[in-house]
Parts: sequence; C-alpha cells; structure tokens
Amino acid sequence: MTLALPEVSAGLQDRLTDGLARVEALIEERIDHDDPFIAEANVHLLRAGGKRFRPMLTILAAELGNGVNDEVVIAAAAVELTHLASLYHDDVMDEAELRRGTPTANTAYGNSTAILVGDLLFGHASALVAELGAEAVRIQAETFIRLCTGQIRDDRQAPEGEDAGAYYLRVLEDKTGVLIATSARYGAMFSGCDDDVIETMRVYGERLGMAFQLADDLIDIESSEEELGKLPGMDLREGKRTLAVSHALASTDPHDARLQELLRSDLSGDADLAEALGLLRAHPALARAREETRAVGVQAQEALVGLPDSEAKTALLALATSVTHRVS
Ligand code: IPE
Ligand code: IPE
Ligand code: MG
Ligand code: MG
Ligand code: MG
Repeated sequence: MTLALPEVSAGLQDRLTDGLARVEALIEERIDHDDPFIAEANVHLLRAGGKRFRPMLTILAAELGNGVNDEVVIAAAAVELTHLASLYHDDVMDEAELRRGTPTANTAYGNSTAILVGDLLFGHASALVAELGAEAVRIQAETFIRLCTGQIRDDRQAPEGEDAGAYYLRVLEDKTGVLIATSARYGAMFSGCDDDVIETMRVYGERLGMAFQLADDLIDIESSEEELGKLPGMDLREGKRTLAVSHALASTDPHDARLQELLRSDLSGDADLAEALGLLRAHPALARAREETRAVGVQAQEALVGLPDSEAKTALLALATSVTHRVS
C-alpha cells in the first residue's frame, strides 16, 4: 500500500492485506479470457501496479461493521474494476503514454482496443455488483453516470456564465469523488453497518475523493515521472484549469506574465513545458492550492465526527491526511 497509515495496528494492517489479496485473486479470476490477446490486454494495467486505494477503502470501511466477508470482497473488486476501466478510457481521452510506470493500453494496443477493454472490464464490474443485489446495482449505475458526466465536463471549459472554480470542483466530485464515496459506502453497507454510518461513509468518501483528485492535480505539477508512474505536466499540456493554474492565471503581478503566457500556450514543446512546471512549482499559487487541498481533507475528517472512537475511525482520519500529503 503506497499510502502510509502510521496509526494502524499490526492486526488491522494484516486484515487489510488479507482482504486486498482476496480482492486481487477475485479480479484475476474474473478477467481471465480464453483468447490470449484479450487475456493479456485485460491484465495490462492491473499487473502494472496501482495503489488499490478504492478497494482498500472498502475493506477499511467494513471495519466499522463486522469486517471483511465475501460481499465486501466482491464490492471491493467491483470498485477497483470500475476504476481500472475508467483509466483505460481516461488515457485515451488524455492521450497519455505512461500509466503505473508502463505504456498505457492505448499506446500498447491502440485506442479502439483500449476503449473496448475498458468496456469489457466495466462489464465485469457490473457482473460482480449484480451478485450484491438491486440496491448495489442502482448505486453502481448512478456512480458510473456521474463518473462519465465528470469526465465529459472535464474535457470542456465551464459554460458561459458559470463560475469556472465552482465548475471545476463539481467536475472533481463527479469524475473522482463519487466512485471513492461508493467504495466507502459499500464497505459499510456489506459489513452490517446501520444507515447512519453508511451515509457517513458516503459523505466522508466523497470529500476524501475530492481531496484525492486535488492532490492528483498537485502531484502532476510537483512530482517526478519516477514517483508518478505517469508523465508530469500532462494537465498543463491539456490546458486543465486546476486550482494552482487558476490562481496563477488570476495573478496581477507583472512578474507572472511569462508563466501566464506559457499556461495559455499549447505547451507542446518539452522546453516550454519544463519552464512552465519550474515557474509553477516556485509560485505561491501552488502552495495556496496545497492549502485548499488540505482543507478538503479536513472536511472529510469532519464527516466522521459522529462515529464512536475505534481503530477504524483513527485509520480513516489518518487516511485523509495521507491523501492530501501524498506525492504519488
Ligand atoms: C488515478 O487514480 C486517477 C484519478 C482518479 C486521480 P489513482 O491515483 O488511484 O491510480 P492508481 O490506481 O493508483 O494507478
Ligand atoms: C482521471 O483524472 C479521473 C478518472 C479516471 C475518472 P486524471 O486524468 O487526472 O487521472 P490521471 O492523472 O490520468 O491518473
Ligand atoms: Mg488522465
Ligand atoms: Mg483525465
Ligand atoms: Mg491527473
């Protein structure tokens, strides 16, 4: 697990590790295929690495109830498969070449295969959720509708008259927040938690997911290719109005003219991209965006206020901190 949870006991750490091993085995079993090419394309990203953040959250949330059982494992596998499918599609949209330290599926197999494998993996996620009953299917459907809504809107500028900052936060809530909310919610749902705790986990997960995506936007600027396993600066090249970029563009300081000029250009040249990254890394806009990201992490922690003290609650609080401090 990349995200350190220092406050977690060896017992809880072992339960998380065991749960994740069951999730991994279930995913591998389900996505195997008779056709060797499809079998290989299906496991391309799975085997390349990844943090398994969403299934880990499902398993951790289940600690608030009776812990891991078969349904929790199925739900955790389904959220990771949904995530995986969205990554195949995201890399086509973003024309990304590297993911999890490996060539993306679109680079390795072309766009058509990457899209279809994403669809196939989403089909497997749906088949798993169908084993959990109609309520879980309804939640999964709503989650995927919002994820796609967010991804469509992420590719576009805010409509005329709509506040760009508010639009951007809504995009994050949809494209990333909702699946992380569902991950936490399923863990509580299938471990026997009552409705209040399930709703608490949904709200916590949504805020945690926003913080997670805000941190992803920061590390696109701050981290190295080795840390990221993807190429830094891709959001700048795509013209994404992330928080740090919006703050830098809003500056009236004449010293920022060069950075602003670069941010408004297409940044297709490597030298321009490196210069923009260097200027942005040193700019107070980045520190401000980091502060705002941490504030959303604190809002996630505040969602847990009504839960009685427990080891799981302590771990969920620590998770929100590690999400906003992460570098990969
Ligand atoms: C990347 O998600 C896409 C976002 C929603 C930011 P992760 O950072 O969880 O990617 P992996 O699964 O660890 O590769
Ligand atoms: C992706 O956001 C969100 C989803 C996959 C839904 P990004 O485009 O920022 O993800 P990365 O940085 O490529 O992992
Ligand atoms: Mg991307
Ligand atoms: Mg994207
Ligand atoms: Mg990103």
